[in-house]
This record gives sequence, C-alpha cells and structure tokens, in this order.
Amino acid sequence: MKRMAIILAAGQGKRMKSKLYKVLHPVCGKPMVRHVLEAVGQANCERAVVVVGHGAEAVQAELGDAAEYALQTEQLGTGHAVLQTKPLLGEADGVTIVVCGDTPLVTSSSLEALISLHQKEGAAATVMTAELADPFGYGRIVRGEDGGVLRIVEQKDCSAEEAAIREINTGTYCFDNRKLFAALGQVTNENTQGEYYLTDVIGILKGQGERIAAYKTDDPSEAIGVNDRVALAEAERLMRRRIALRHQTNGVTIIDPDHTYIGPDVQIGQDTVLHPGTILRGKTKIGAECVIGPNAELNDAEVGDGSTVRQSVVDQAQLGEGCQVGPFAYLRPGTRLLAKVKIGDFVEVKNSVIGIGSKVPHLSYIGDAEVGANVNIGCGAITANYDGYNKSKTVIGDNAFIGSNANLIAPVRVGEGAYVVAGSTITHDVAANDVAIARERQVNKPGYAEKLRIKARLKKEREESKS
Ligand code: UD1
Ligand code: CA
Repeated sequence: MKRMAIILAAGQGKRMKSKLYKVLHPVCGKPMVRHVLEAVGQANCERAVVVVGHGAEAVQAELGDAAEYALQTEQLGTGHAVLQTKPLLGEADGVTIVVCGDTPLVTSSSLEALISLHQKEGAAATVMTAELADPFGYGRIVRGEDGGVLRIVEQKDCSAEEAAIREINTGTYCFDNRKLFAALGQVTNENTQGEYYLTDVIGILKGQGERIAAYKTDDPSEAIGVNDRVALAEAERLMRRRIALRHQTNGVTIIDPDHTYIGPDVQIGQDTVLHPGTILRGKTKIGAECVIGPNAELNDAEVGDGSTVRQSVVDQAQLGEGCQVGPFAYLRPGTRLLAKVKIGDFVEVKNSVIGIGSKVPHLSYIGDAEVGANVNIGCGAITANYDGYNKSKTVIGDNAFIGSNANLIAPVRVGEGAYVVAGSTITHDVAANDVAIARERQVNKPGYAEKLRIKARLKKEREESKS
C-alpha cells in the first residue's frame, strides 16, 4: 500500500523566543525538521509533504527538493495545517503518516511499527501514544470501557479527570488517507484555543463507527515535542545518548558519553576510543582503532585507521592511516595527510598534502603546499603563501629537510633530498640534494660585550657625580 507523510512545520514556535524558526533549531547538529523528514524517508514513505508557514523560505531552503511543500499562510491549528496538503494528497489511496516537525526523536522503526499495527487492525486512524510521568502540556488519550481510543483532549480543554490521564498523544499518527481528508472537513474550531485541531479527527472517525488503534511506544523520548529551550536541551541529551549507544554497540569505547558529542551522520570504526570533550560533526568518518580527544573538534573530517587526534581542531581535512595529530593542532579545509604523518603542537595546515611519514612537529604554518614523503619540517618553519594579493604554492620533494625557523616564500620548490639550513629565508627554488643557506653570515666581535658594559658604567658614574 502506498505510504505518504505529512510533516507539520508552519508554526512560529513563540515559546522558543528565537529569530530562528522552531523546526530549524538543531538537535545534535541537525535541524529538527530534517530528523523527522529522514525518519519518514527511512520508513519508506514515497512522498513527504512539509506544511510550511512561518519561515517557509528558510525551511524550504534547508530541506530543498527532499520534500514537497504546502503553504499554510495563517496558523489556524494542526487540523487546518493538514488540510493545506489536500491539493497534493487528497485524491490518493494509501496510508498517511502525520508527524510534527518538532518531535525530532521519533524513529523510523516506531513509524514502521505504527504502520504495521494500523494495517493489522484495519484501522482508519492509529495514534502513537506514550505513558509519561508528567503529561502536562500534551493531548490526553481518552479510552472507553473496552480500552479502545475514543478521542484526544488537549491540555487546555481537559477536565480535572482527563488531566490525570498519563497516556499522551505524541502527535504522530497513521491514517487511511481518504478517511483523513473526509474527516478534516468536519473539524471545527470550537475549543479553548479557537483552533482547528487535528486531534479532533480521532473523535470524528470514532463517531462514524471507524476503528481507531493506538500504538504505545515504550521509549517516551520519542514523544518529546520541543516547544521551548528546556525541551530542546532535553531532546539534545536524549539524542546524544541514543547516538552514543549505537556506536558503543558497534564496538566504540566512549569514556564519558555525557561529554562526547557525536552528530547523527558520523561513522566510527571498531575499537576506536573517544575521550571526553570530543565533538564529531557533519559527515565525519573515523576509522578503526583510533584515539580521539580529549577535547578534539572534527567537522566533516576523515580519519584513517589507527590514528590519534588529541586536543585539536580538524575541519574538512583527511587523515590517512596511523597519523598523529596534536596536541593543539589546527587542520583546515583541503588538508590531506597521507599515512603515518605527524602533526605536532601549534601547527596549522591549510589546503596542503603531506606525504607518507612526514613530520611537522612544532610551531609551523603550512599553507597551499605539496609536501613529499619522509620530509622533516623543523620547529617554527613556515610557508609564506600569501603576499597580500595572491596565494602561491610551495612544493617540497621526498626526503627533504627544512631547518628550524625557515621561511619558504611561495611560489617556491625544494627538490628531493634537499636541505634548507635553519633560519633561511628561501625565495629561489632549491634543486634536489642541494643545501640552501640564506641568512647573514655570523660575525663575532671578541670582548665587545664587556666593553659595552664598561662604557655604560662610566656614563652612569659621570651623571651621578654631576647631580
Ligand atoms: C500537539 C497536539 C497534542 C500533542 C502534541 C505532541 C494538536 C491540537 N495537539 O500539541 O495533542 O500532544 O502536539 O507534541 O494537534 N503547526 C502548524 N500549523 C498550525 C499549528 C501548528 O504547522 O496552525 C505545527 C507546528 O509548527 C508544530 C506542530 O504543528 O510543528 C505541532 O504544533 P504545536 O503548536 O507545537 O502543538 P502542541 O500544542 O505541541
Ligand atoms: Ca509541540
């Protein structure tokens, strides 16, 4: 049977007190509405329609053509929001999932379970519910004597008796598509908030003698609807824990999961150890048997097997196998370290390739460079890649040795096996196996320091005798 999905994302989210529209607030680095869209995609929904209103352009810019859109110009309630998708979905046969854009923890496996129960029960509507210790703020599930769902009542419309019900509406449903749109036509706004509630569809269908089912999730975190920043932090904490658990199950050691921040799309190999303060974002991919952290930040980075990254920032850079980075290194976009490269303390590398086994151990800047294999770059040596107008390239051949505090003024090439003497400022190419020295020759003046001291002492004595 054809599966469709409707994601409600037109509200402003006043309680967030933010310039950013609610559903665009990130949880573990990914906007809430994208989490939801990916979950419905993984639950094999062929079409996903996002209802947009407040911040419509921003939401569309975020999701692009991964979804279809229906515009709700005025936010008259969740039922009214779903109705805006009628021109797109109204005539289709099949089942339709409706989910709020502010419930980022809903999982595709629960959506699958919701759909299967719906089909097994032959229901017109199936609600995903959860039992919460504190149900305040959510719609309550009112069940009849036979235990079946009768209707949903919103917090603001609850009697004292209804308010005591702990089973809540997660805001996720599965409907028979045609029955959904037929019932929506009958929803009115006669309630405390003067809104067209989607939740009224349940009572309407029930009144028509239709079958209503409920799928109760045993993971209450899925129910979290993020309406304010407190719930946002709670969603972040729960998602963080869920992501950590997935990696732990796959054989990753996380020393302190509460202080390790892993994005939803990060991949990590077996027997890798993550120390506290590690932040892995975007499409970062870490190999097996690596050691990351403490306090390492990696954005869209790739790290080969057996590498170590300590107290460093790695941004859109690739590390081969067996590399050692840090402490206190900064690898910027376009950096590619081949295998067994060592990048030490206070070293910055940008848009450069460093060959197998090469070392940049301390206090260097390497930019727009191509460094061969087994090159040693001495302490404080740098590439001067920018003259204020243009960026130029430095090429260093295999087995070259760059002495401490050398300045390589780009564009410049140092040949294979060449040797640049410490303190040199290199402005001309160095041929393979040559030694380049480019610094003032040293002159020693015998006893001159002592002479200077005597001169100074005599001057001071003259001044003191005058006064
Ligand atoms: C809704 C449910 C409530 C449920 C809770 C779960 C209704 C009437 N109530 O309440 O039973 O327990 O979710 O989190 O449905 N939206 C629109 N257009 C509108 C109004 C809302 O697109 O006109 C969107 C919002 O952007 C949001 C979602 O619908 O993503 C839910 O709206 P919200 O106002 O947060 O509903 P709740 O009061 O949380
Ligand atoms: Ca909500």
